[in-house]
Amino acid sequence: MGSYRGKVTVSGPWQRAARGAMLLSDAGELRPTIFAEMSALAARTGAINLGQGFPDEDGPVEVLEAARQAISDGANQYPPGLGILPLREAIADHQARFYGIEVHPERVVLVTAGATEAIAATLLALVDEGDEVVTLEPFYDSYAAMIGLARGRHVTVPLRAPDFRPDPDEFRAAVTDRTRVILLNTPHNPTGVVLDRAFLELAVELAHTHDAILVTDEVYEHLTFGVEHVPVASLPGARERTVTISSGGKTFSTTGWKVGWITTTPELLGPILAVKQFLTYVNAAPFQPAMAVGLRMPDAFFTDAAGVLASKRDLLSAGLRNAGFDVARPDGSYFVIADGKELGFPDAVELCRRLPELAGVVAIPLTAFVHPEHRPSYASFVRFAFCKRVEVLKTASNQLTALKS
Ligand SMILES: Cc1ncc(COP(=O)(O)O)c(C=O)c1O
Repeated sequence: MGSYRGKVTVSGPWQRAARGAMLLSDAGELRPTIFAEMSALAARTGAINLGQGFPDEDGPVEVLEAARQAISDGANQYPPGLGILPLREAIADHQARFYGIEVHPERVVLVTAGATEAIAATLLALVDEGDEVVTLEPFYDSYAAMIGLARGRHVTVPLRAPDFRPDPDEFRAAVTDRTRVILLNTPHNPTGVVLDRAFLELAVELAHTHDAILVTDEVYEHLTFGVEHVPVASLPGARERTVTISSGGKTFSTTGWKVGWITTTPELLGPILAVKQFLTYVNAAPFQPAMAVGLRMPDAFFTDAAGVLASKRDLLSAGLRNAGFDVARPDGSYFVIADGKELGFPDAVELCRRLPELAGVVAIPLTAFVHPEHRPSYASFVRFAFCKRVEVLKTASNQLTALKS
């Protein structure tokens, strides 16, 4: 069979999405993301993959068993459009238990195909052509793609080394009457920064002043190390204009299940649901009851998971420091940022391409999370994931000392 010879281009809004996601060269060619390139490199070389953020251990047995049971019990057909009620109730109870936020499970809770679909549906529903969306930069890569697809304008507030905290004045300057959405991510991927209450209060104030909607991506909400996670929706004046997004993948080590959720107001949920139903309609029938079991786990599960991850952060951070990197201290998430400049590696893209051969490790350059024009400011930084088994982190740390020689 011959191959298709017609003209194939990425056109219209997708071109903007692909450019936003940095998948499209200026010549219009599709290229793999740096994540795909680095994961392929890890597979080809057998290097330890500290690139992509997924755990290498299973989550709680109760949760896994509940999914097996659900399949045996026949939960294998389309669930309801909003998600099964027991999961929506578990999400509502979780918001009340941890944050004192009361949400009605039948009116303002929506189950999505991971946080990724929640972000997509929210931005596609709320952002019109030319509307501005303010995010921190570096940012999770789907934000730029979805803002591009919605034909919005992406305005960013830089996070700078060494502590990667946003400057309130720069944030103030970024939010204007053109801002439709302020999209915040806390705990933050890739920097591990946990936004403090004062900054989040400023976000709420700016949203009121400029009549913007707050969208918060809180997928690492339970993975903080000795600092408090403050959901934006818990702040005074925030509820009526906030879309809160989370997901069970990180908390329960089930990233492949893609069960996420939104809690918001009836007014905001309507348009989001209208988009969501034509993206996937529904997903993950047997995983939905299992996620409800997860969300109802005792408090000790959540504190232990964060405690274990904090010790992994310390282990890998010490290993990176010992190897000669300057290392930032993340207060949450799966990730730590290391600067290779002092070690003689000013170009993190080049370092990451050579890291498997030099040290048998794969990581991601921070430039993957910024717009091309801002790459020079982040050129020497590398993101390492520490959500891996202790032996794996120890081996990686030992191997990384080879960089010093
Ligand atoms: C900040 C952030 N948001 C969203 C996601 C996607 O979450 P999900 O796998 O639930 O779609 C990730 C996954 O890495 C993330 O780091």
